[in-house]
Amino acid sequence: MHKLGAYLVLLTSFLYLSAGSPLATNALDQRATTFTNPPLWEDYPDLEVIRIGDAFYYTSSTFAFSPGAPILKSYDLVNWTPVTHSVPTLNFGTKYNLNSATDRGYVKGIWASSLRYRNSTDTFYWMGCVDGSKTYVWTASGTNALKNNGEVSSWNWKAAATLSKCYYDCGILVDDDDTMYVAYGSTKIMVAQLNKDGTAEVKSQQVYVTSDSAYIEGSRMYKINGYYYIFVTKPANEEWVLKSKSPWGPYEMKVLVASIAGPLTNAGYAHQGGIVDTRDGKWYYVAFLDSFPGGRIPVVAPITWTSDGWPQVVKVDNAWGKTYPMPVQTSKTVPAPVGTDSFQGTALSDEWEWNHNPDTSKFRLVGGAGGLLLQTATVTNDFFSARNTLTHRIIGPKSSGTFRLDISKMKDGDRAGAALFRDIAAYIGVQKEGTAVKLVMVNNLNLDANWATNTTGTVAAAGPTIDSGTTDLWLRVQADITPAFGTSTQRTTTFWYSTDGSKWSQLGPAFPMTNAWQFFTGYRFAVFNFATKALGGEVAVKGFTMAKL
Ligand SMILES: *[C@@H]1O[C@H](CO)[C@@H](O)[C@H](O)[C@H]1NC(C)=O
Ligand SMILES: *[C@@H]1O[C@H](CO)[C@@H](O)[C@H](O)[C@H]1NC(C)=O
Repeated sequence: MHKLGAYLVLLTSFLYLSAGSPLATNALDQRATTFTNPPLWEDYPDLEVIRIGDAFYYTSSTFAFSPGAPILKSYDLVNWTPVTHSVPTLNFGTKYNLNSATDRGYVKGIWASSLRYRNSTDTFYWMGCVDGSKTYVWTASGTNALKNNGEVSSWNWKAAATLSKCYYDCGILVDDDDTMYVAYGSTKIMVAQLNKDGTAEVKSQQVYVTSDSAYIEGSRMYKINGYYYIFVTKPANEEWVLKSKSPWGPYEMKVLVASIAGPLTNAGYAHQGGIVDTRDGKWYYVAFLDSFPGGRIPVVAPITWTSDGWPQVVKVDNAWGKTYPMPVQTSKTVPAPVGTDSFQGTALSDEWEWNHNPDTSKFRLVGGAGGLLLQTATVTNDFFSARNTLTHRIIGPKSSGTFRLDISKMKDGDRAGAALFRDIAAYIGVQKEGTAVKLVMVNNLNLDANWATNTTGTVAAAGPTIDSGTTDLWLRVQADITPAFGTSTQRTTTFWYSTDGSKWSQLGPAFPMTNAWQFFTGYRFAVFNFATKALGGEVAVKGFTMAKL
């Protein structure tokens, strides 16, 4: 997480950043093809990357979206696809069910958390502090990952423990002798030793404190060549490395990066994240950039080690490279992030996350042309209190998200459509009044600074009359999440509809997005269906297509 003070420093300083610099490959393998940063232009912040055999796994924070803590998989550190979520249901209290207008979890929930694999028991551990008070442990055992070169035969996440202590911004380490440790805390960095199962604390102590009370957080813990390392961030500009012969310290500190330029213009500095090695022993640092309105996106750079065990980022013209050689040459691939989801199968793909825990009795995958059936789950006039809004990350820098809807079973008072989801939101959708169907573009859907609903929306434009029996209505959200962080430039989103899937009309004015970081999560595409009068209506989401523009 970030603290306001750090951001104010950042805002005044990085306005003068220049764009990424051309590549100098002389020190690197000329035969390799290159990749471009960011490898995946999507909002996957507070990351940790691990490797088992040929497979890399990447965990990320998700706040009040559910399921939480997705895991992305890659074979080359560049092409990533989500394969599971470590926290299938946010088991942190009623507010994570979008319980009421005053009992909601916006911006709370899963903050910087940790993922590790313990090979002695074939168990993945996810651990995170929620609401500053408790630490939740979820585990997946019997995955066969070690045996199968990193491939997981089935993810079987279980709530393993709740510790009545906050391991704030924690990073797990499984030591060579199988002892589990957790580094955590802010400014004062702590290390805890866990019990045999990794489900309770044996002891903990402070191992490092900044000399000038500088704010640091985001611990990642490693054991490499006999040294213990704790990587921490000084948000949102710097990454530090603490190094010691013992997990308990004393730790020496060196700065890994400080206000490093590149690779994108109008984005923040690469920081936080973690390091991982390839099978052939090369090391990489995967950090993230503040890239609002798009959220926080990963960037990858090689690291080298000094003879006395300090990592150094391989820079290009003294900046984070826009391109580097591919970390791994492999024929193994993962699915592309763009394309069409027609909601087949028995479960939603891991590209999807609900706004808070969904009411599982109000949606189902029906198969065939029916896709995803969304029944209204809440009677409200407040978009931000309506359950079962389904969200999808936006791929940058520009893309469209198109939902194909059957609206023929909506009921009087229902609202359904395609949203641009965040604390300052807008949508194109259908408002059913009696038997009439109004196609509208709505803006002024705003949360206030405390994440209470401030405004419940204004109809900014109305479209033509739509037949109430319409079984194919395409609604498109076209977003530009080119970073404009710390600038007054407002990127815009436009809303479109089609009744035949080929002829498109824009509805309403271009919507200016906020660049503010305080909501943490970047803008997302979303589909929703809620009632303002009574439950009973439904829409079928027959497909979703995300396309780069
Ligand atoms: C299992 O994990 C331990 C601790 O990280 C490590 O020392 C060991 O090399 C690993 N064994 C295998 C077979 O990967
Ligand atoms: C609430 O909305 C109004 C009107 O859009 C705006 O002027 C005000 O700043 C908002 N208040 C907060 C706390 O966000």
